[in-house]
Amino acid sequence: SYKFLRKILFLFDPESIHKISFRFLKIIFLLPNYLSFWQYFFRIDNNKLKRKVFGIIFDNPVGLAAGFDKDAEIFDGLSSFGFGFVEIGTVTPLPQDGNPKPRLFRLPKDKAVINRMGFNNDGVEAVTSRLRRKKSKIIVGGNIGKNKLTPNELAINDYEICFEKLFNYVDYFVVNVSSPNTPGLRELQSKEFLNDLFIDLNKLRSNETIKKPILIKISPDLSKEKILEILEVIDTNNIDGIIATNTTIDYPNLKSKNKNETGGLSGAPLYDKSNEVISFISKKTNGKLPIIGVGGISTPEQAVKKIEAGAHLIQLYTGIIYEGPGIVRKINKKLLNQEL
Ligand code: FNR
Repeated sequence: SYKFLRKILFLFDPESIHKISFRFLKIIFLLPNYLSFWQYFFRIDNNKLKRKVFGIIFDNPVGLAAGFDKDAEIFDGLSSFGFGFVEIGTVTPLPQDGNPKPRLFRLPKDKAVINRMGFNNDGVEAVTSRLRRKKSKIIVGGNIGKNKLTPNELAINDYEICFEKLFNYVDYFVVNVSSPNTPGLRELQSKEFLNDLFIDLNKLRSNETIKKPILIKISPDLSKEKILEILEVIDTNNIDGIIATNTTIDYPNLKSKNKNETGGLSGAPLYDKSNEVISFISKKTNGKLPIIGVGGISTPEQAVKKIEAGAHLIQLYTGIIYEGPGIVRKINKKLLNQEL
């Protein structure tokens, strides 16, 4: 079982394990018919799980959160693990290394992770060339950001470059202004910046024949006033949805050895906090604004509660590290039984 495998995996440094798992997955995804093979174990296909959200039909509402397949290397294969969608990125215009290692820390006593990766990625050109070779029908979200060296005054350019280059290769976009690991990025959650950015992105997408949904991903550390401002900018610019939430930088009361590492905290301790943000947004928008709920899901019950809090779709990342990929099927099974 995964519990046994986890014991072995957790003996090694987390970023090395991520790399090794990645290589392993790449190899198994090279086998002929891997899609149907793995699907047989992991995927649940049932019309009752289908959702239409911001104009897109999802096979099921459980997605892989941004940051796992940053460079769009294994999204096709990941579809066979039962996800209804996969979000690639965060992608920046130019490739960049991210922060020095170590920058990823497990907190096993808290069922959490702290990361300060800092948008390490291959850059939008390389990512686009991989997406061009897409084989499966998996829905792909493109999560976009700015390079570390780009000053905030020029940040709009970076988002526009990624938006244009990825336009034909992703199904929806996510403007990431909430990672704590790019200095100053979260300041871009201001209504002035977002308004300017959305006006420009709307101009760009109006030139295209297909309309691609644009979402914004927010931090769980925003005040209610700030969230209300963002909801207003979303409304005036016809932005299609919101992802709540990214990782938190506010983490008291942790028990694990790595609790004092700098970065963003994900996993169990984020669960309630992100749910509060989701409920707040859902109430303020009367359930009408599409919400992708993410933060701390590691059981089917928690997935249900996130949907009940107002999420139309959900995503997870840290829960997969602790529970293994089988959690996706378990969640879908539960949703099917509850007819949610
Ligand atoms: C992330 N997350 C993230 N989010 C994002 O928008 N862009 C990114 O590049 C990354 N990178 C990233 C790396 C690592 C190692 C982790 C653990 C997380 C945040 C992620 O998508 C999600 O919002 C949070 O992790 C909360 O969900 P979970 O992990 O508690 O299910």
